Amino acid sequence: MPQISALILAAGKGVRMKSALPKVLHSVGGIPMLARVLTTVNSLRPTSVGVVVGHRADLIRKSLASSPGKPAVFTQPVLNGSGGAVRAALSWVRRQRGAIVVTCGDTPLLRAETLKDLLKSHIRNRNVATVLTTEVPVPFGYGRIVRGFDGRVQRIVEELDASVEERRIQEINTGTYVFDGRTLARILPRLKPNNQKHEYYLTDVLEILNQEGGRVGAHVSDDREESQGVNSRADLASAEATFRRRILKSHMDNGVTLLDPDTTYIDEFVKIAPDTIIFPQTFIKGATVIGSGCQVGPWAFIDGCIFKNDVIFRASFAESSVLESGSRVGPYSRVRPGSVVGKNAHLGNFSEVKNSRIGEGSKANHLSYLGDAILGKNVNIGAGTITCNYDGIKKSPTSIQDQAFIGSNVNLIAPVRIGAHAVVGAGSSVSRDVPAWALAVERAPVVVIKNWAKKKFKKRTKAS
Ligand code: UD1
Ligand code: CA
Repeated sequence: MPQISALILAAGKGVRMKSALPKVLHSVGGIPMLARVLTTVNSLRPTSVGVVVGHRADLIRKSLASSPGKPAVFTQPVLNGSGGAVRAALSWVRRQRGAIVVTCGDTPLLRAETLKDLLKSHIRNRNVATVLTTEVPVPFGYGRIVRGFDGRVQRIVEELDASVEERRIQEINTGTYVFDGRTLARILPRLKPNNQKHEYYLTDVLEILNQEGGRVGAHVSDDREESQGVNSRADLASAEATFRRRILKSHMDNGVTLLDPDTTYIDEFVKIAPDTIIFPQTFIKGATVIGSGCQVGPWAFIDGCIFKNDVIFRASFAESSVLESGSRVGPYSRVRPGSVVGKNAHLGNFSEVKNSRIGEGSKANHLSYLGDAILGKNVNIGAGTITCNYDGIKKSPTSIQDQAFIGSNVNLIAPVRIGAHAVVGAGSSVSRDVPAWALAVERAPVVVIKNWAKKKFKKRTKAS
């Protein structure tokens, strides 16, 4: 590969977005479009990357300050077209050796592989300019690729400047090109705003090169979706949908069953092992990693978790937690950050855990709250049991050791420790440590008054 550099055009206003935020800072898949394009061009290992900014340059500069490789930033003083944008970086263009990739900040779905193919085609054909094109059924709004009788690319004509005949052309300019750097630097000053918009069009470089006999080529991509340009909110939604489908497809290709891709939302960096089934209405976010043989959903929300193998997770929320193999959560449970649900442990229905460790085989099957608690193995938590971990000032821990049995409706008033094999009677409020094998029960004697209800009933019927 020869030396290459890359220039991203991001000065445009994005009028049709009707936004205070510059268009390229709108996100697709949770990451700003410009950052996505930067990552893609960085995969070519360019010697230098430039970004042309204009509209709300301050905001874009700020967003670029933290991006990898710190690109060189150029300001286009007047927004006079894509050619004007490259001209704003002319001094940089002149300094580059080899090929320059020029792409737009508003085509976030462009894949690194496609850029590499474009470059290869440029080099193989010894072109001075190669444009990435694709064929679309509805080419409206895009520049059309005009080819001669010999099939060679002659020029690119924009929608507004195109004849009726040219508007029928379905091969479009994706807005990504490779140029020989020195040739581009030489041609840029010759662009003229001879078009309906009175702008300097980068696309005109191709026609000028043809006139002087340079080799101009096109690399046709068969993935038309990746070249979708985002010019409006509707385009943004459509790019988002394409992006999401791309992720879902890669999971299915890897052996994951998605029962209903239409209602499944999986973030870009999520990993799922084969033979896991994802049920409808499921959201999997962040850097979640899910093992194999799991069943997730329906109605699941998972953010930043690790699920080992064979986990069953139904109609529940989990954040920043680990679910060990064979554990079962839900329906209707919430696993809050910092929790570990041990091997074969069960949680819920209607159970909440926060910053707690549920040991192997332990069960909190019904309506409980476990906060700042450490549970050993095979602990049983009765229905309605809660850890009272907060006294209004500070949080305190609860420890429940192996095989302990906590009856229903128990309040464990932290800090408190229940020893191994200990039993806590139903309805107790426990504010002292309970040693191993002991019984703790806090219960007022039951008063039974015979025929009490009968008397009351009589009184009531008399009164009415
Ligand atoms: C452009 C192409 C069109 C192509 C389409 C692909 C031209 C003349 N037309 O049209 O052939 O099919 O992209 O999506 O290039 N920009 C600047 N400064 C400006 C104007 C634009 O930096 O003064 C940047 C924008 O931020 C954007 C890119 O250039 O990233 C393209 O501009 P846009 O106005 O979206 O061009 P299109 O009409 O989409
Ligand atoms: Ca565009």
